[in-house]
Amino acid sequence: LFLGLVCGAQYDYGAYDHNRDAFRPGRFPDGFIWSTATASYQIEGGWDADGKGESIWDRFSHTPGKVDRGDTGDVACDSYNKYREDVQLITGMGLRYYRFSLSWTRIFPDGTSTSGPNQAGVDYYNNLINELVRNGVTPMVTLYHWDLPQNVQDTYGGWVSEGVVQHYNDYATFAFQTFGDRVRYWLTFNEPWAVCYVGYGLGMHAPGIQDERNSTYLCAHNILKAHAGAWHTYDRNFRADQSGQVSITLNSDWAEPRDPDRAADVMAADRFLQFYLGWFANPIYSETGDYPAVMKETMLAKSQAEGLRESRLPQFTQEEVNFIRGTSDFFGLNHYTTRIIEDNVVVGAAPGYTNDRDVAQYTAPEWTRAQSQWLYEVPWGLRRLLNFIKLNYGDPEVLVTENGRSDGDVTPPVMQDRNRICYYITYIDEVLKAISEDGVKVRAYTAWSLMDNFEWARGYTERFGLHYVDFNDPNRPRTAKQSAGVYRDIVANNGFPE
Ligand code: NOJ
Repeated sequence: LFLGLVCGAQYDYGAYDHNRDAFRPGRFPDGFIWSTATASYQIEGGWDADGKGESIWDRFSHTPGKVDRGDTGDVACDSYNKYREDVQLITGMGLRYYRFSLSWTRIFPDGTSTSGPNQAGVDYYNNLINELVRNGVTPMVTLYHWDLPQNVQDTYGGWVSEGVVQHYNDYATFAFQTFGDRVRYWLTFNEPWAVCYVGYGLGMHAPGIQDERNSTYLCAHNILKAHAGAWHTYDRNFRADQSGQVSITLNSDWAEPRDPDRAADVMAADRFLQFYLGWFANPIYSETGDYPAVMKETMLAKSQAEGLRESRLPQFTQEEVNFIRGTSDFFGLNHYTTRIIEDNVVVGAAPGYTNDRDVAQYTAPEWTRAQSQWLYEVPWGLRRLLNFIKLNYGDPEVLVTENGRSDGDVTPPVMQDRNRICYYITYIDEVLKAISEDGVKVRAYTAWSLMDNFEWARGYTERFGLHYVDFNDPNRPRTAKQSAGVYRDIVANNGFPE
């Protein structure tokens, strides 16, 4: 609690906090799920071990200039060999849940079921899952955390083409069939916004396609179909026997209007959220079962102004709307940060950065930044986002599937990671307020990440771990940071004791 007060005081919420309230002791509801997360490409290594096929992240990181310092996930944390140790780190914090992802190409090397399954890959995940279960840890499994089979990218152009949907469904079906007896929670996709916007729009992530105007939207369209297909497959063929839950994990910043008294800014902040979270959440969780109205209107108007006959935003048929709507058993949310939003209408087709959302983004000078350029610490943004979800998507059960903070790769390493400790305490405190004061049905909190790992285009220069990993040592030793102990205490107390 003392730390909570200290951390709370450290945050000068500034002009943009309209309901500042101090850190208070309190407990989470009984049965609240505490978890931590990783992803296959970020931790496993063994990139071509035992028959594993190449993924778009193997290709991307092996391409000079794509990742800082030329870092790759070839070895990463070596979890392909060290998974037993990973499980000990998890139980060491008293956690009974662990979120990790499957590498599609470890199971189907070329991404299609005609080529597999690759038994060694299947064995790896069976071993990991069994080790977790033996240690009292329930697996939460992500099917797609960004490592698309390179062959699927090459053959179909990846997510821009509907051809990939059937292969994804075959892969998902195999995963349900093979591992579903022990998996309680499935996430079909991790952060489709990042997949489509950063991977197929900005081109800063694999597969490095720079096409914000079209590919971004086609990618989202196909991922929504693939997600819905997998959910229906589970619902139809596996739910009765396995009684697990299936959903998708969406990410979003919170958006705060720059001037809350200016209608244009309030609308711009909403547009930012609709183009970010609503883009995926609306088709799945809203009653209309389609993209947000403001997104459809904006995109149609822009497309017409550009001389196009049809909107650059693809359209779902009524059948597709019906197929996608309601395909979730909970709301999976990754959240890290907040933006201040101002209205900024871009007329016509701007070259390069199209900014279809017509917003300008800011941060407040008093916000502390983590190592990641995009990550400003704004704990109250999480509470507001949770309330937005409750209000707009039918008051669903929410599983926070990621939240965390990065440090730099410095010598000596940051093991007394007070900034991370304060980040966790203040953000978790906001989750508690959302539950106990606002009635948001948050059922889980997941810390990103179990250990330092491959932070995509930033390589190993950004460290999000509760455990430190020495990437210069071939044995990749892990050491608990102070935050791991604090998290263990929060978990043991199911919150913050008096
Ligand atoms: C989002 C992603 O799901 C995860 O892979 C990434 O490492 C963290 N957030 C931090 O950027």
